[in-house]
Amino acid sequence: MVTRLRKISHTSQFRQCFDSILCKKYSTLTVAPGKDYKNLAAFHKKLTGSKRILALCGAGLSASSGLPTFRGAGGLWRTRNATEIATPEAFETDPGLVWLFYAYRRHMALKATPNLGHFALTALAENLPGFLCLTQNVDNLSIRAAHPPSQLRPLHGSLFNIKCSNPHCSYTEKNNTSDPLHPSLALAALDPAEDEPHPLLDPSHALEHMPAADLPACPECKALLRPDVVWYGEPLDEDMLTSVDEWIDDAQVDLVLVIGTSAVVWPAAGYIERARGRKTSVVTINPEAEKPDNLRKMRKRDFAFVGDAAVLLPQLLEPIIGKPGKNGTYKSKLTSTPNVGC
Ligand code: APR
Repeated sequence: MVTRLRKISHTSQFRQCFDSILCKKYSTLTVAPGKDYKNLAAFHKKLTGSKRILALCGAGLSASSGLPTFRGAGGLWRTRNATEIATPEAFETDPGLVWLFYAYRRHMALKATPNLGHFALTALAENLPGFLCLTQNVDNLSIRAAHPPSQLRPLHGSLFNIKCSNPHCSYTEKNNTSDPLHPSLALAALDPAEDEPHPLLDPSHALEHMPAADLPACPECKALLRPDVVWYGEPLDEDMLTSVDEWIDDAQVDLVLVIGTSAVVWPAAGYIERARGRKTSVVTINPEAEKPDNLRKMRKRDFAFVGDAAVLLPQLLEPIIGKPGKNGTYKSKLTSTPNVGC
């Protein structure tokens, strides 16, 4: 079965999940959270007894690195909803606009640096072989925080991987960090003065239509190049999904960390319940963790911590990863040197 990226609404969530092979265990019924659901000591007890931990990360993990999230404040790009631009249809209609959107996100991600939340997750991976991190983020900040690739699954691809848009051409480029990627996208790499809006974000600044012939082209077949990220309606990498399934099925998952995600995009959101066993605790780390919608989905063993992932993750994971060093990063057990972003 091909698993495509799609938004899920809470009302259709159950039916879709029961329909899916990927998520046949999805059966959350409303149970009130237990009395200790925001008790740090109770969480630490669960954490230190956990051998297998799964994390599902979203845009909120990179929020304190200065990267906007998709929904809510910051979710608009010019006058368009950011999620409308991430579609094959938008690329077909106006590849120039879609490329500018991604070129701008590449530029922002290159300027950003990983935060303590990324580094805390790296340290968790280094200290706990049974930790697997699923990220919906395409900003490469986890990789730049030296998260071991074998314990990271970038479900939605990377802004820095490029591929040919021609389905019959296999041309790809990995980790291309050129900025701008192409002379036609130079506007996206512009850094205006601090008190001026970026011309790309200012809807009153009209954008000239860019003919396809001016955009980055495949050196092999001359079709348009495109970012190697998963757009709505597109399939996710089957091998990656299989590896996640196999990891989940291998043994009981003790803890699921749900970090900075609105958990409304399929199939990523389904992994929260897919990984849930009888003794699993799900912990939500999000400024909106105590919204009624989230509290309604919680079970007795679950936790919810309200706030910035960059602040909370170091505190929550401290019994395993220790305290960060003076420069704010953790000592790597493997290299005895602090992890630094590149
Ligand atoms: N720390 C933790 N969480 C935060 C922070 C923060 N500092 N700031 C915001 N958040 C939370 C928001 O409350 C929200 O729940 O992060 C979440 C971000 O949600 P979305 O913007 O929907 O991002 P995400 O869940 O990653 O979106 C999933 O949608 O468009 C697609 O492919 C795109 O990967 C993306 C997917």
